[in-house]
Amino acid sequence: MMKRDHGGNVSEISRIYGIDEDKIIDFSANINPLGYPPGLKKTMIKEFDSVLNYPDIDSFELVSGLSEYHNIGQDYIIVGNGSTEFIYSIPLTFKPQKALIVTPAFSEYENGLRLAGTKVSYFQTDEKADFSPDIARLCKRLREGFDIVCFCNPANPTGVLTSKDELCRVIACAAKTGALAVIDEAFIDFVEEESVKKEILRFSNLIVLRSMTKFFGIPGLRIGYVIASAPCIAKIRKIKAPWTVNSLGQKVAAYAFSDRDYIRDTRQYVTNEREFLTAALNEIPGLKPYESAANYILVFMDSRIGLNSTELKDHLSWEGILIRDCSTFQGMGDRYFRVAVKKHEQNMILIEKLKWVAK
Ligand SMILES: Cc1ncc(COP(=O)(O)O)c(C=O)c1O
Repeated sequence: MMKRDHGGNVSEISRIYGIDEDKIIDFSANINPLGYPPGLKKTMIKEFDSVLNYPDIDSFELVSGLSEYHNIGQDYIIVGNGSTEFIYSIPLTFKPQKALIVTPAFSEYENGLRLAGTKVSYFQTDEKADFSPDIARLCKRLREGFDIVCFCNPANPTGVLTSKDELCRVIACAAKTGALAVIDEAFIDFVEEESVKKEILRFSNLIVLRSMTKFFGIPGLRIGYVIASAPCIAKIRKIKAPWTVNSLGQKVAAYAFSDRDYIRDTRQYVTNEREFLTAALNEIPGLKPYESAANYILVFMDSRIGLNSTELKDHLSWEGILIRDCSTFQGMGDRYFRVAVKKHEQNMILIEKLKWVAK
């Protein structure tokens, strides 16, 4: 069973290593390096008194904003307390007996499925193919008979992007074998054109998970949503706890979509810095960065690096640098770590520290 482990534990690391929180650079959580949209704080202050009332149970304003942003009808969208709410509620809603998770993957899929009593199997992507999933092999595997398949695109932690066409093949294979296809698009905002969101009109077995955490830089507000067929949304709504999306989150998230300059700048900044960071990592002897479509990079360490990934994480933590040790991901071993793409000056610090380790 996958271990429960996440990046972003800044306060915990501060306590354990005795480093002030503001001295820590967190490369372990993949949050927009530009932070939240510039006008968001002002909007929040303006809307503060909304906390005096219960939040809108249906997040009407936010759903309308999302509907406009994605050009998808409101009946096809439901908002929750981060996409994690749905990672847990979808198994309870659809009660799948057998699940297939394309791995390595976010550990909460498995936790949510197991809580609902689902038997979990893995479809491990091949290290030798740079973790790019073999779609024909995956379709063949689906014919064994699963009720649900979980697939993250771009994949976390590998950064691998599967094209929309290839993913549609997977969704079609799942449909044929009677499986729901849950496609986690937590990082698709960086390559929105590859989203399968519009395919919900074609595939009634498709459930798209979306998150505002990463791209919009608001992990603490907890806003995520599902895009799926209207009957699927109605089923998910039926077992949803009320008021899980707080009123300030609803107001502020609706505002975030309206800032088109921020959205454009984020894509540009992350693309430039990802290129810089990948090239710089590549120059460090013993490190092999993987190509990524998102705001993080998976890195392999060969035997020239005298530490395993857990030791490297510990070593850098003492210096206030947090990286994601990937040994807790299914089938990854102890030679991989993942780093977020951050501000240029922070990325430079990471490179300097890693150069020193590789000496
Ligand atoms: C791939 C993936 N999906 C979903 C989530 C959950 O995001 P949220 O903050 O929307 O619950 C994460 C968070 O780390 C993630 O990495």
